[in-house]
Amino acid sequence: MIKCENLNFCYGNNKVLDDINFTINKNDFTVIMGDNGCGKSTLLKILNGLIFPSKGKYLFNNKEITKNYLKDNYNMALFHQNIGFIFQNYDVQLFNSTVYDEIAFGLRTMGLSENDVNQRVMDCLKLLDIEELKTRVPYNLSGGEKKKVVIASVLAMNPQVIVLDEPFNGLSMKVQEELLSLLVNLNKCGKTIILTTHRYDQIKGIANHFLIFKDKSIKYDFTRNQLINNNEVKEYCRML
Ligand SMILES: Nc1ncnc2c1ncn2[C@@H]1O[C@H](COP(=O)(O)OP(=O)(O)O)[C@@H](O)[C@H]1O
Ligand SMILES: [Mg+2]
Repeated sequence: MIKCENLNFCYGNNKVLDDINFTINKNDFTVIMGDNGCGKSTLLKILNGLIFPSKGKYLFNNKEITKNYLKDNYNMALFHQNIGFIFQNYDVQLFNSTVYDEIAFGLRTMGLSENDVNQRVMDCLKLLDIEELKTRVPYNLSGGEKKKVVIASVLAMNPQVIVLDEPFNGLSMKVQEELLSLLVNLNKCGKTIILTTHRYDQIKGIANHFLIFKDKSIKYDFTRNQLINNNEVKEYCRML
């Protein structure tokens, strides 16, 4: 479903991703780990078509995702319906005047009828248990509430793949647990989940696939069992 082949990325002359190769299959729960500045967020931006490889390939559902490919409105719409991204600084994703409109925004651009929009928005409010926030101004919400609204707005589009950049940062333990169990349920329903985190112990029993950076490359591409049985790499993950 997702494939990176000999992928490099440079900001100007500064190479930050060096020869990245991996595959993520449908319904994987993939965790990307690595030290600060190793390129995790850059890689997620590439997976979401916000920036493009300097060298090598990124394939989504067997299509190479390039600037040119996404210039086509149909390709762009299809791609963004299939992969949803929750930014680390998710504040930037909130720009509507009510929570309802925030979640409805993408659905309206898809051209759904207001009836269908309403149905999906209400379903997502319920799923995130934030029905009471419906008429609130997103900007004024707490961090945890904002996060839930952004997630609801992404889920409303019903993407196949959900990508989250350090989703647990800055959230209370209670909200972290709620988010984790939501992700587990979405994964059980067939969604592919990709996230970055530093919290190995929180995720070790949940994810089935681990991509672990060392410097600018992915050094280990492990299943959960491979990781559990490798004390050295497990310790490395704990220190991240
Ligand atoms: N917009 C940018 N322009 C130039 N350099 C950047 C930019 N964003 C990130 N970098 C650099 O790229 C490297 C990887 O950053 P990032 O992908 O944010 O790492 P991580 O998410 O693993 O902490 C870092 O050295 C960072 O300073
Ligand atoms: Mg980052």
